[in-house]
Amino acid sequence: MSKLLEPITIRGVSLRNRTVLSPMCQYSAKHGVANDWHFANAARFAMGGFGAVILEATGVTPEGRITYGCLGLWNDDQIAPLERITRFVKQEGAVPGIQLGHAGRKASTALWYRGVFDETAEERAANAFEEWQPVAPSALMHAAEPGPTGFKMPRELTAEEIRALPGHFAAAAQRALRAGFELIELHMAHGYLLNQFLSPLSNHRTDEWGGSRENRMRLPLAVARAVREVWPDHLPLFARISTVDAVEGGVTVEDSIALTKALKAIGVDLITCSSGGFDGARFHVGHGYQVQHARAVREGAGIATAAVGLLGDFHEAEEVIASGAADLVALGRPALDNPNWPLHARFALGGHEDPYAEWPKQEGFAVRNMDRALKARTFAG
Ligand SMILES: Cc1cc2nc3c(=O)[nH]c(=O)nc-3n(C[C@H](O)[C@H](O)[C@H](O)COP(=O)(O)O)c2cc1C
Repeated sequence: MSKLLEPITIRGVSLRNRTVLSPMCQYSAKHGVANDWHFANAARFAMGGFGAVILEATGVTPEGRITYGCLGLWNDDQIAPLERITRFVKQEGAVPGIQLGHAGRKASTALWYRGVFDETAEERAANAFEEWQPVAPSALMHAAEPGPTGFKMPRELTAEEIRALPGHFAAAAQRALRAGFELIELHMAHGYLLNQFLSPLSNHRTDEWGGSRENRMRLPLAVARAVREVWPDHLPLFARISTVDAVEGGVTVEDSIALTKALKAIGVDLITCSSGGFDGARFHVGHGYQVQHARAVREGAGIATAAVGLLGDFHEAEEVIASGAADLVALGRPALDNPNWPLHARFALGGHEDPYAEWPKQEGFAVRNMDRALKARTFAG
């Protein structure tokens, strides 16, 4: 019997299996508001059988968006289109989640699929183009050069602005609740604002928000505390971390275990163990390249983890759960390649009486008929 396809309950929320759609920026919003693209995109993964579908990094303030095309939850007008998405995702049996974040000094970059700011005047007008000066713990640029994606020199946040940030995250969490989300992932990874506070590479502050590890953890922990306070007890709270910055002098596994223990004490339920996000990060990228981090954090801090990173092979993903490295498997690009990945996992991993029963009822019978005619999958041999 597949462990990957077993349900799991976290607080009061049950996922039908251990697969999660990893948050992925769509660069398709105007003024942070979701539209038909976001609906259709989330829908296909809910219909494809994922246990949870987590929407992209969503800015808790306008300047916290990665690009002008990213989602936001800083005002009430942004709630209704998301509510339409959560309703359908739930109808199709998946748990709707959203990643809340702030991009810090990596904000206001070009839409990544374009790679450069080459919008015509017409496109700028039609797509609500915006550019702004990012903010960060210290006035240090992400990279030595702006590069084609347009990294900018940030302005150093004042202590007063830092103290306001947990409140911005909490307000966004309250809007997420009103929009019907059942899971929040706090974005503390990939060199974005909270990771910028955690890492000595980007945090050169000399006040209570910088210096010692305790001081560098202060803002991420304050954010987690503020969100946990407003996020109902029966709903899960995840955090995504870069377990290692993979740059000399950056965050290490030991730092991440210390952070995770503190997050756990606040009531964070699960850590998604990613890595990198700083200029010059060096690590080998291949099959399951970050699973070791999920295991290290799970064992080191005694907390549930999600593994992420090139886990599209069904048997490798199964092994991640079966071997106890992680409790969930998050899929990004393999899900783009095959939005029905969890449905197909039923066939590949077996152990299920009627794999077609998991398909949307409107379509599962037709796929069964096709396989019967072709003597394929469950009808083979
Ligand atoms: C187009 C794209 C957009 C992404 N956007 C986000 C994001 O909004 N938040 C995040 O934490 N990770 C983001 N990621 C990283 C993925 O969630 C995932 O961690 C990474 O791609 C590795 O997993 P994979 O090999 O399954 O794709 C993005 C990745 C891609 C390909």
